[in-house]
Amino acid sequence: MAKDSLSITDNRTGKSYELPVSESTIRAMDLRQIKVADDDFGLMTYDPAFMNTASCRSAITFIDGDKGILRYRGYPIEQLAEKCSFLEVAYLLCEGELPNRAQLEAWEVKVRFHTYVHTNITKFLEGYRYDAHPMGMLLGAVGALSTFYPDAKHIDDKANRYLQRIRLIAKMPTIAAFAFRHSRGLPFVFPRNDLSYIGNFVNMTFEIGGKLEPNAVLQRALEILFILHADHEQNCSTSAVRSVGSSQVDPYSALAGGVAALYGPLHGGANEEVLRMLRAVGSKARIPEFIRQVKEGKAKLMGFGHRVYKNYDPRAKIIKRMADEVFEVTRPSELLPIALELERIALEDEYFVSRKLYPNVDFYSGLIYQAIGFPVEMFPVLFAIPRTSGWLAQWQEMRGDPEQKIARPRQLYLGAGQRGYVEIGKRDEPAPVGR
Ligand code: ACO
Repeated sequence: MAKDSLSITDNRTGKSYELPVSESTIRAMDLRQIKVADDDFGLMTYDPAFMNTASCRSAITFIDGDKGILRYRGYPIEQLAEKCSFLEVAYLLCEGELPNRAQLEAWEVKVRFHTYVHTNITKFLEGYRYDAHPMGMLLGAVGALSTFYPDAKHIDDKANRYLQRIRLIAKMPTIAAFAFRHSRGLPFVFPRNDLSYIGNFVNMTFEIGGKLEPNAVLQRALEILFILHADHEQNCSTSAVRSVGSSQVDPYSALAGGVAALYGPLHGGANEEVLRMLRAVGSKARIPEFIRQVKEGKAKLMGFGHRVYKNYDPRAKIIKRMADEVFEVTRPSELLPIALELERIALEDEYFVSRKLYPNVDFYSGLIYQAIGFPVEMFPVLFAIPRTSGWLAQWQEMRGDPEQKIARPRQLYLGAGQRGYVEIGKRDEPAPVGR
């Protein structure tokens, strides 16, 4: 009869071992018993970039990368994007279930109550250079929040954790909008609690002279983008939040780690890079030349490829459909035809097909953000606002997981063996750089 176990023979010693298999996984620590001698450390796994290592057990987000499936707490992303508000999804991620009407109203009221930031935060945001990248500003500001809420270090207090969750979800749009206004040299517009979460963010960002004509289609598009970006299981920034948070630091400091990871061009900075790439390509006529460069390894097709999705990213499908509605109410994007043609060619090209490279969430999202009026520098910030709810859900889950300890990977040491200290005057001259 089949057994849920793995038999291993160590050919170095001839010994055999039987390791339990659970959820298609073996425990790396079970390998430690495999030794060549009693004083041997034991067998380890080597897995740079965690290509095949589960770092946690999670009940938040499910992805099947081969089938192109994404679900939050079991609900398909397509249904959530169609039916929910962003705050409803944030509640689902953080609290585990979709809220009933009373729960949602209470959640919205609490978030609204915490949208203001301390006046000193406005002062230090003003201290950034006029051309500071808004994501850099957000990164600094989120970390700084821990100094404004020192009570957040009481991470074992459930009510306290809840308060910090609300604060973070409520304040991220305010800081994001202030970062944008700073980069434009515009005065800050303070939160308006008569508006929805999205409406208030758009108002704080774009209101001029006390006026802003809200556009329902664009606001809904932004809300859907927020829903699609809310969580994505153990991606780079979420792993950073879990890893930093595993030291038991407060959630603001842990999330600052997440914002930093998201800033990078291979992660949340990718949609910014997509727009730069589309601008650099410039016209449909230049696409074949660009594709040739990508295939020669001289360029990257930004917005394509994903560590997990080896099929069309389900979020990209929703965004692509949404783009049509958005461009009906805004000026048509001159970059959209280039993006569509790039996608068409790439999906037929052997290089991309054989590597299972499909458009990811970032391929079309930048075009929509741009149509709404956001400059490219704001794109990663627009990712960080909704991802805050996912980070918080994951941080909370990590805190409650009795199996989690401080994150501390092993290494394979390849450096020098022990050697004696050499006095400074007796060391060889270092070789000049470049030799
Ligand atoms: N353009 C061209 N070639 C690519 C691309 C791309 N966008 N992505 C991967 N490849 C190639 C690699 O060169 C490699 O080819 P090789 O086997 O000949 O060496 C092969 O496809 C496999 O790629 P890996 O780098 O091993 O895939 P990995 O899972 O490590 O990387 C990543 C995933 C970082 C997303 C990568 O596809 C990439 O850099 N994409 C562009 C950046 C991007 O769009 N990032 C957003 C991701 S979604 C998000 O964070 C929200």
